[in-house]
Amino acid sequence: MLTLNFTKFPALETERLILREHSPSDAETLFAMRTNETVMKYIDRERPKDLLEIETFITAFNRGFENGDNLAWVIALKENPDKMIGSIGYWRTDYGNHRAEIGYMLHPDYWRKGIISEALKRTIAFGFEEINLHTIKANINIENDASRKMLIKHGFVKEAHFKQDYYFRGQFLDSEIYGLLNPNH
Ligand SMILES: CC(C)(COP(=O)(O)OP(=O)(O)OC[C@H]1O[C@@H](n2cnc3c(N)ncnc32)[C@H](O)[C@@H]1OP(=O)(O)O)[C@@H](O)C(=O)NCCC(=O)NCCS
Repeated sequence: MLTLNFTKFPALETERLILREHSPSDAETLFAMRTNETVMKYIDRERPKDLLEIETFITAFNRGFENGDNLAWVIALKENPDKMIGSIGYWRTDYGNHRAEIGYMLHPDYWRKGIISEALKRTIAFGFEEINLHTIKANINIENDASRKMLIKHGFVKEAHFKQDYYFRGQFLDSEIYGLLNPNH
């Protein structure tokens, strides 16, 4: 059985980080991140139009863990837990197949310090041990070398390359799918 609908949000900790629930006060930072073209370069999704859209997003995230649709954590440094610096989470949960997709993003001021690596390691362990996922999937834009290297570093293997399977802004884009098997199953 998969466990995605927790009664209390499952906040997590790593050596340097706190992974916590989204709060309404994260809206401005999240808006800034999702409209930052450096961050969004390989994230082929429409940018939010306004803060209201982000607030709706946050409400959906926070409902998500209760009804089991998704689980999205804010990444913050332990020394400043209120300041959101990134996000990581599971979504597109495929219940029947015990599979969920992981996604992550970090503000550029914090890149290349091992932060997403640290958060990813913790959330993978949580996905396998606490949610009981059988596989974790990641879907990348084929030009996203940083994300590809990150996934490979954490043991993901390339499972598929779909040709022009994703329509965004007038173009059909290729996607690469990476996967990781639960080592305890
Ligand atoms: C991709 C991203 C999440 C990396 O986060 P990060 O905290 O800077 O990454 P880390 O410092 O933990 O790096 C872990 C590994 O990822 C790879 N990596 C990270 N950034 C890289 C870069 N710019 N170029 C090449 N490899 C990179 C490396 O293998 C690195 O290991 P190493 O430091 O031992 O070489 C960050 O660049 C980001 O938020 N990008 C924009 C959003 C995005 O594309 N998200 C993924 C969508 S699928």
